[in-house]
Amino acid sequence: MKAVLATKNKHKTGEVAALLSRFGLDVELLTLKDIDFNDEIIEDGETFEENALIKCRAVSQKYNGMIIADDSGICVDALGGEPGIYSARYAGDGNDDSNNKKLLEKLINVPREKRTARFVCAFAAIVDGNEYVVRGECEGIIAPQKRGSGDFGYDPLFEYVPSGKTFAEMTEDEKNSVSHRANALKAFAELMKTLEK
Ligand code: IMP
Repeated sequence: MKAVLATKNKHKTGEVAALLSRFGLDVELLTLKDIDFNDEIIEDGETFEENALIKCRAVSQKYNGMIIADDSGICVDALGGEPGIYSARYAGDGNDDSNNKKLLEKLINVPREKRTARFVCAFAAIVDGNEYVVRGECEGIIAPQKRGSGDFGYDPLFEYVPSGKTFAEMTEDEKNSVSHRANALKAFAELMKTLEK
């Protein structure tokens, strides 16, 4: 199976391909660069699912084969689900440090039992003109301060309670066995396998 992943990020492509293969789906993934797609995609949906589909639809204007796209973020209960789909730009400058700082400031004086949150990831696909979308989540707690050396997004603040560690303190393999992205890709691989039958 061959598909375009609607991202310019080669690292993400490798990670998604590895996870899909772990779930029994062998896909040769191309990036937007590989198909020379340079248009800006306006992600103006109101949900992770909508934004993932918007990316697929934009690419489908120029590419006929299978297309996959994801959208993800963190939803904090005490903040009514913020930052949600705005996770990447929460503090306005697209910087992980500023985003983490803003989140901690908003949760100042909020006790541990009310710091519940979840990472959410939606994966959408267009296959033979049909649209599909799945969602994966991972529950956790926003720690009172950053912990761990991994420095992607909100990883240092997101404590996965069964391990007692933040995502930034877990190995890549540990994170990949429980993460929202892994859960979404597991559901996605199952869905694609039913289409192959
Ligand atoms: P994207 O949709 O994968 O680009 O993710 C949007 C934003 O959500 C990122 O910039 C991060 O701030 C946050 N995010 C999504 N997934 C993760 C994760 O696994 N760890 C930390 N932050 C994440």
